[in-house]
Amino acid sequence: MITETPKRKPRFRLHPTAILNSQRLRRSLMDTYDQKSFYKYIIGIILSLLSIGSLFYTDLLVEELEQREEREVQLYAEGLRYVFNSPFDENFNIIYQVIQDAVNFYQIPAIYVNENNLATANETINESFPAKMTPKEKERIIQDKLGEMKLEHPPIAVELGKGRTGYIYYSNSFLLTQLRYYPFLQLSVMLLIGYLAYLAFSSARKAEQNRVWVGLAKETAHQLGTPLSSLMAWVEYFRSDPAIDPSIAEEIEKDVIRLEMITTRFSNIGSVPTLKDEPVAEIVTNFVNYLEKRVSSKVKFAVHNQLAPEQTALLNKNLFEWVIENICKNAVDAMSGVGHISVTLQAPPTTREIWIDISDTGKGMSKANMNKIFDPGFSTKKRGWGLGLTLAKRIIENYHSGRLFVKSSEVGKGTTFRILLNAAIIE
Ligand SMILES: Nc1ncnc2c1ncn2[C@@H]1O[C@H](COP(=O)(O)OP(=O)(O)O)[C@@H](O)[C@H]1O
Ligand SMILES: [Mg+2]
Repeated sequence: MITETPKRKPRFRLHPTAILNSQRLRRSLMDTYDQKSFYKYIIGIILSLLSIGSLFYTDLLVEELEQREEREVQLYAEGLRYVFNSPFDENFNIIYQVIQDAVNFYQIPAIYVNENNLATANETINESFPAKMTPKEKERIIQDKLGEMKLEHPPIAVELGKGRTGYIYYSNSFLLTQLRYYPFLQLSVMLLIGYLAYLAFSSARKAEQNRVWVGLAKETAHQLGTPLSSLMAWVEYFRSDPAIDPSIAEEIEKDVIRLEMITTRFSNIGSVPTLKDEPVAEIVTNFVNYLEKRVSSKVKFAVHNQLAPEQTALLNKNLFEWVIENICKNAVDAMSGVGHISVTLQAPPTTREIWIDISDTGKGMSKANMNKIFDPGFSTKKRGWGLGLTLAKRIIENYHSGRLFVKSSEVGKGTTFRILLNAAIIE
């Protein structure tokens, strides 16, 4: 479509700042990524320090409370000794009650065992017995409790004079028990909050990144529109000039049409693409054939299709082809223009998936690089933007609910990428 008449002759020269800008953008993208993981570490360290601090502090509190409770029981023992040795028989009960009340204040469960090794419910404090209990049942409960208490603290002796000794067994108060478990509760809550915060941050970050991508792509498409229509006009101009070989205009037109297609793809990013039931194998085969003609003849392509001919998948053809193109172009780059690319399509028997494996005989990649290739801006190429795989992953995972990953890669031998799609049910 012609919308503008060219006013000046076009010049074909790549502006040197374009290359510089690409490197600058790439570096700044990588920087933001490094910075984010730096903050993650800092926050992780702060959280760990807080947790350790809180653990130590609670431990301190527990120790102090434990000592206080022991003193309290000792006081009780002292009181009992006093009561038992008291000559004032008539006051016995009152004094005993006062002492019991004091210990009651701390809610420390305790049992007094007399010199004949007998314990009675009467001298058991801070343990509740259900109403309507036979003395036998009470006795059994007391023995159970005693067993537990013996494990917890050594008993406190009550000197009764004349060589007789009673013992007070006791366990931690409810408060102390709670305090013991408190750090674990606190830690779990902290971890939970940390996890929720992480989820919130990362989804906010993703949303932000998406906006940047979409904006960048749409703006690029928009800006390409004007020179494209101008180029189209130039093609018409060449055509009308009998002095120019018509095949030149034709070739240029092909390139312009291709540029327009690329622009359309860019402007489609961000808008929810429409998916259609498409014959996967056919699309891949045709597109690989198309690519083969456009790269060095020293790169041999092969498609191995193991899918049923009627097998389809929900696809956006344009975007999907773009992904195949990006992966194949990287493969060609990795082989420095000589080697084999093989594309295998298969459906594993157990899941409703389609696997498309794209293997090359290129230089492969190190483990360290394998973790980074999907990061925006990561490239090992002099003039690479490091965006191809990022966009490819987005297209497959966000728009097709599939997966894109490196299935295997060996330095010096080659790489296999796998695209996983959801297979449509064949009726
Ligand atoms: N088939 C492959 N073999 C080896 N390395 C690869 C292959 N495909 C991708 N890579 C690595 O992943 C990087 C990122 O690829 P990509 O996102 O397409 O960006 P670019 O092609 O601009 O470098 C490449 O620079 C390269 O190091
Ligand atoms: Mg690439």
